[in-house]
Amino acid sequence: MNVGVLGGGTMGLGIAQVSAQNGHKTILVDINKEVLDKSKTKLEKIMARLVEKGKILQDESIAIQSNIVYSTNMQDFKDCGIVIEAIVEDFNIKSEVFSKLESIVSKDCILASNTSSLSIASIGSSLKISNRIIGIHFFNPVPLMALVEIIPSIQTSDLILKNVKSLIDGWGKVAVVCKDTPGFIVNRVARPFYGEAIRIYEEGIADFATIDWAMTELGGFRMGPFTLMDYIGNDVNYTVTETVFSAFYFDPRYKPSFTQKRYKEAGFFGRKSGKGFFDYNDETLNVPPNKNRELGEQIFERILVMLINEAIDALFLNIASKEAIDLAMTKGVNYPKGLLMWADELGLDNVLSKLESMFNEYGEDRYRPSPLLKRMVKSGTKFFR
Ligand SMILES: NC(=O)c1ccc[n+]([C@@H]2O[C@H](COP(=O)([O-])OP(=O)(O)OC[C@H]3O[C@@H](n4cnc5c(N)ncnc54)[C@H](O)[C@@H]3O)[C@@H](O)[C@H]2O)c1
Repeated sequence: MNVGVLGGGTMGLGIAQVSAQNGHKTILVDINKEVLDKSKTKLEKIMARLVEKGKILQDESIAIQSNIVYSTNMQDFKDCGIVIEAIVEDFNIKSEVFSKLESIVSKDCILASNTSSLSIASIGSSLKISNRIIGIHFFNPVPLMALVEIIPSIQTSDLILKNVKSLIDGWGKVAVVCKDTPGFIVNRVARPFYGEAIRIYEEGIADFATIDWAMTELGGFRMGPFTLMDYIGNDVNYTVTETVFSAFYFDPRYKPSFTQKRYKEAGFFGRKSGKGFFDYNDETLNVPPNKNRELGEQIFERILVMLINEAIDALFLNIASKEAIDLAMTKGVNYPKGLLMWADELGLDNVLSKLESMFNEYGEDRYRPSPLLKRMVKSGTKFFR
């Protein structure tokens, strides 16, 4: 089957590479010829490195690259069995592009979007045959990140979902199916990793370095929240938080912070601007963490139970299965354990009592325990086993 990828930027190129590695003739279309030229050179370098490291043979590298056709013309999608869109995150542009796409491809062609924040139902509304729309949300860098969230919308047919799931499984990815709701699984469940860390800082409990130390050294996370926000960019991360917050009709649980807003406003984006929560131009300016174990444990536990509560609530609202939620966080953002499995290990009663004590202390809705957690503690059940 020929695969079309629309948008030849960061995500589009990654998706095209994976498709080509799996033997599909892949048509990569971007409106900007320069982007395509750059992407082609980038892929040549990636392939050369893989050959050098002995991960693929020279012949395979040649075959993969020759599987990709670079084009600025969407008409080249006409023989594709699926087109995956990865263009700029703008609803009006995506909508216009999808209706144009539909006039080019066959009536059986699957139309997918890699959107991070728009609803798949809204994108599908621009199609005449709307049961072929589906969300296929890859993670960056696409060839390295195993997770793919598959999002059927209320228009999507069961057959399209089945075919897309088997395509993505066949590419060796870990495909999880989730509901068409803001943030899907990962970008929803991960919110407290940033939000609660900032809140701890705002309350003056600890500084950035100490919170990061607690999460990495004691919690086993690969990166601390502040290092991660600096890596993602405070402009990008703040915008995602704001988008999720408004998409959830301003549920206080997802409230963005003034702290990150000020960093964004000041242009302290993080790594890319040389300064964010930490200084990247002069690392000697960064204060070392306070390695007080008791303080570290408190920080880690508070953020962890907030993450767990979010994962439980996603299950409560049937966003995805328990297995999918745990896989999403371990394979999409490299969490050391699945959050529901972690909850079992900690004891659901311990998670609940920690949340209740914060809820009582602060009186804020963000600390409200999920009804499913309460129900399970009452019945003495666990997520697994
Ligand atoms: N970057 C990430 O980490 C990430 C992760 C998951 C999903 N996404 C989503 O993937 C999509 C693309 O993100 P990206 O980071 O690759 O962006 P990008 O800016 O790197 O690439 C977007 C490309 O789309 C092209 N483009 C814009 N309008 C077009 C049109 N009408 N026709 C053809 N090409 C067009 C641009 O020239 C650009 O090359 C967005 O919807 C984003 O939300 C991004």
